[in-house]
Amino acid sequence: MLDRTHRFRRAGTTAAIAIAVVTLASCGDSTGPDNKQNALRPQGKYARQILHLTEPFFWIAVIVGLGVIAGTFYVALRFREKPGEERAVKQVHGNSVLEISWTVIPALILAVMAVPTVATIFSLAKKPTGNVVNVTVTARQWWWQFSYTDNGVETANEMHIPVGVPVSLTLQGPPKCSPAPCYNNGVIHSFWIPALNGKKDVVPGRKQFLKLEADKPGVYLGQCAEYCGLAHADMHMRVVAQTQPDYDAWVKSQKAIVTPEGALELGVNNTTYQCASCHSFKVGTPGAVAPNLTHLADRTAFAGDKYLLNYDNLWRWIYDAPSRKPMGKLVQHMPNFSAVNMSQAEAQKIACFLLTKTATNPNPPSECAGK
Ligand code: CUA
Repeated sequence: MLDRTHRFRRAGTTAAIAIAVVTLASCGDSTGPDNKQNALRPQGKYARQILHLTEPFFWIAVIVGLGVIAGTFYVALRFREKPGEERAVKQVHGNSVLEISWTVIPALILAVMAVPTVATIFSLAKKPTGNVVNVTVTARQWWWQFSYTDNGVETANEMHIPVGVPVSLTLQGPPKCSPAPCYNNGVIHSFWIPALNGKKDVVPGRKQFLKLEADKPGVYLGQCAEYCGLAHADMHMRVVAQTQPDYDAWVKSQKAIVTPEGALELGVNNTTYQCASCHSFKVGTPGAVAPNLTHLADRTAFAGDKYLLNYDNLWRWIYDAPSRKPMGKLVQHMPNFSAVNMSQAEAQKIACFLLTKTATNPNPPSECAGK
């Protein structure tokens, strides 16, 4: 008997520790200032609208939840069979008062909650007017293409926006291709910058609308939120919010030709490795299936925002990308160039060329001296 009690206690302690670990783990960095993917710390008015809707609902759920738990305990304790007592369960056929009340009360609560919910949905679905930045977002496997419809800027994974100005996004899948076999027509992704708005699925064949707005300059990180294949977890994006003058300067820099297209294409060794068959080396032109590289070195990260843009990460990526990010059976992806006899020195040379020749303000790393 003693042994059994002991075992129960031990199991209870273990269970309590396990629950505490799981529960407390969620508290970790999620509300810390360093976490840049946090819907509970909105940094713009649309994200704030969602939080303002969520907060009261959370407390309603807490009250209902506690009520249900308390009621369950009350019934279990109040009506339990006491030691030494023997009785048959009282047989009843329904209870109209109880049944009507547990139908009507939740229905009323939900009806009340529906009012602000529907109002928020409509408000968030309303397209902004006036001073608006328009960007078409194409979700690729596994990176994000940002095409600025107002000024022709073309970038990947990293979107710059001015603060205090609504950004209207048109979310779409990659363009249809024919004849087969060609680049697939895309799968469902989900665009999500938690600090700036809720998430929106990107569905091939449809155009979806989402708007963003940031209160103040900063970097807001995001993540594809719909499983889309092997590298789904590596499909990140970032929004760089800037003051209007900084943003205007960025737009100007992105439209400038740093290195002439032909020179850029050749410098990346196009004749041997055919980089231009997927990448674009022309300002403002989307690549066929891969990011436009004319301003690559102006970005913070690459490869679906998985790797910070630096010499080491870049040459290793050029050398053997599939070992740096799972590509699976994707029809077209950054190939393993080491398998077609690219040397490490060659990959390093290409990396240095890109880091120097695609930068608005070149600051080549020390490793690139003489390359
Ligand atoms: Cu794209 Cu998950």
